[in-house]
Amino acid sequence: MKHIREENIVRRQEEYLQELKQWLRDTEDVPLEEMSDFFVKRLNGYEEHMSVWEKSYQLLAESVPDGCRNILDLGCGTGLELDQIWKRDPDVEVTGVDLCRDMLDKLLEKHPDKRFTAVCQDYFQYDPGQEQWDAVISFESLHHFLPERKKELYQKIYRSVKAGGVFVLGDYIACCDEEEELLRDVYLSRRKQSEIPEDCFVHFDIPLTLEHETSLLQSAGFRIENIMDEDAVIIVCRKI
Ligand SMILES: C[S@@+](CC[C@H](N)C(=O)[O-])C[C@H]1O[C@@H](n2cnc3c(N)ncnc32)[C@H](O)[C@@H]1O
Repeated sequence: MKHIREENIVRRQEEYLQELKQWLRDTEDVPLEEMSDFFVKRLNGYEEHMSVWEKSYQLLAESVPDGCRNILDLGCGTGLELDQIWKRDPDVEVTGVDLCRDMLDKLLEKHPDKRFTAVCQDYFQYDPGQEQWDAVISFESLHHFLPERKKELYQKIYRSVKAGGVFVLGDYIACCDEEEELLRDVYLSRRKQSEIPEDCFVHFDIPLTLEHETSLLQSAGFRIENIMDEDAVIIVCRKI
């Protein structure tokens, strides 16, 4: 029985990789879009598009420990994960960092009554302080960056979380090394081909495998406490 299940997983993975390769061929001439512009252009219909992750938003909110008083959300967008978090605790104080002003404005429009500070900034540049937060969260944002960059960010997040606090990461995870390597190669070659400057963020998915993602988090100092593989993968990391 286990053998048949494993064969099915391998077959589904192969089909998925074939579809991904076809999609990459079909879109190879489509120019890469600057990150913030990408989201501004898609703001209408964004929340409906993201509703496929509904269960994951709930799981992420449930992973934030009860009694948590302040949260830092990196790449908060229009606040879909915060909708769920504030449903559970309307008083929790949140700072949301996002480089797209229009996404933040939509969040502020939806939640004028919440204890929320909007920071329109690149989270690689943002200073989250030391031992500041009961929880840091991020959903569907960090898969746009190379591990070399995320490594430093995870160290910064680790320092900013209070002892005993958590970092809850919900993200797109590559199904295997082949997917991770394929997307990384295409990303690098398209950037080079279009002569995109190093400091310009573009919207292109470069997820890591679960093994590589958790290893980055552990090397920053976190203990991996729980992994939920629902739609997005939710990784709960604790600072001990
Ligand atoms: C797919 S959206 C996810 C938004 C929200 N977390 C959600 O699940 O609806 C990714 C968000 O990350 C933001 N983002 C991407 N790179 C960023 C960076 N370097 N600094 C701050 N925000 C960033 C984008 O502007 C966008 O709002």
